[in-house]
Amino acid sequence: MTEAILLAGGKGSRLRPVTLRTPKPMVPAAGVPFLAHQLARARAAGVTHVVLATSYLAEVFEPYFGDGSALGMRLTYVTEDRPLGTGGAVRGAADALESGPADPVLVLNGDILTGLDLAGLVRGHLRAGAAVTLHLTRVDDPREYGLVPTDGTGRVLRFTEKPQRPEEIVTDQINAGCYVFRREVIDTVPAGRPVSVERETFPGLLASGALLHGVVDRSYWRDLGRPACFVQASADLVRGVVASPALPGPTGEYLLMPGARIEEGAVLGGGTVVGAGARIGAGAVVEGSVVLDGARVDEGARVHASMLGAGSYVGRGTTVTGAVVGDGARVGAANELDHGARVWCDARIPDAAIRFSPDC
Ligand code: GDD
Ligand code: MG
Repeated sequence: MTEAILLAGGKGSRLRPVTLRTPKPMVPAAGVPFLAHQLARARAAGVTHVVLATSYLAEVFEPYFGDGSALGMRLTYVTEDRPLGTGGAVRGAADALESGPADPVLVLNGDILTGLDLAGLVRGHLRAGAAVTLHLTRVDDPREYGLVPTDGTGRVLRFTEKPQRPEEIVTDQINAGCYVFRREVIDTVPAGRPVSVERETFPGLLASGALLHGVVDRSYWRDLGRPACFVQASADLVRGVVASPALPGPTGEYLLMPGARIEEGAVLGGGTVVGAGARIGAGAVVEGSVVLDGARVDEGARVHASMLGAGSYVGRGTTVTGAVVGDGARVGAANELDHGARVWCDARIPDAAIRFSPDC
């Protein structure tokens, strides 16, 4: 049996307003809470018990996922009254683990979509005899991540979380947010106070001479912490660019959830998902977007690479490109929302109130 701890307690600030009412792991990607994809992938890799470490909006997880039996696994919920950071969350979750001291325990950030072979990572960890094995990936701009240089054998040399100074940027290898811990190592993390695995635990283990083993993997990888990434990940799931056992339908250019209504002449594509009870009006075009339950896109509107919150409304002829419309918001007709625009939950934008000007 392999156990996993899933970190699901972050505030999801970079995804606001989507995360004002829904914690990041519960925001639907390709029709189901993103967490469902992660749990299904873990189950497919042989994980049978997952401890969900929750904090922000913790109460919504259990009513949806229950004891996990529908997913063929066991779920235990551990909630921090105040956020204890990634390390504090891991330490708190450890009390619910059943693994022995030398057993491998997976620890997963709750906002990562990846095609990584999890079972292979665990096997490599046991072969290397490491205290912790870290999944690493390469990115063009590593500054927003944990930088993890390794030597020729995969031994981690340093861990620098979100480097500030140019001289700290010594590699394009970053922490991909998926670890295998030897269980007894988790037990050394201090309990009951905030701890960051990235800023405290990993540097501390390295300083004590422990073997941290990095595995660079080039399979699909995306952090869903920002709207553009979230929307792209959902589209990739819908189109089958990355596989998920939790996809609630066949892969294709779009996915309709039960009760979604598409009126005549509307065009959907690019991995768009249309949520339950949502409606796309005649002649509207929706490309590579996430349309959540009960949202409405009126006639002739154009929505591209955007996220429309639950029960939101986009008026006639309005264009929404690379933007987020919060739950219950109403964008009137003939507006132009462009890259980075975020309409707050329940906001009201009158007709023809916003124009996009590329010149200023
Ligand atoms: N339970 C709990 N409590 N979970 C938390 C807390 C907390 O206090 N703080 C964060 N988390 C969870 C988040 O929900 C998320 O699933 C995960 O821990 C990582 O937090 P993020 O806020 O998403 O961190 P990040 O994206 O800035 O950086 C992390 O991920 C990068 C890869 O995407 C770091 O691990 C980086 O080193 C890494 O490169
Ligand atoms: Mg993240």
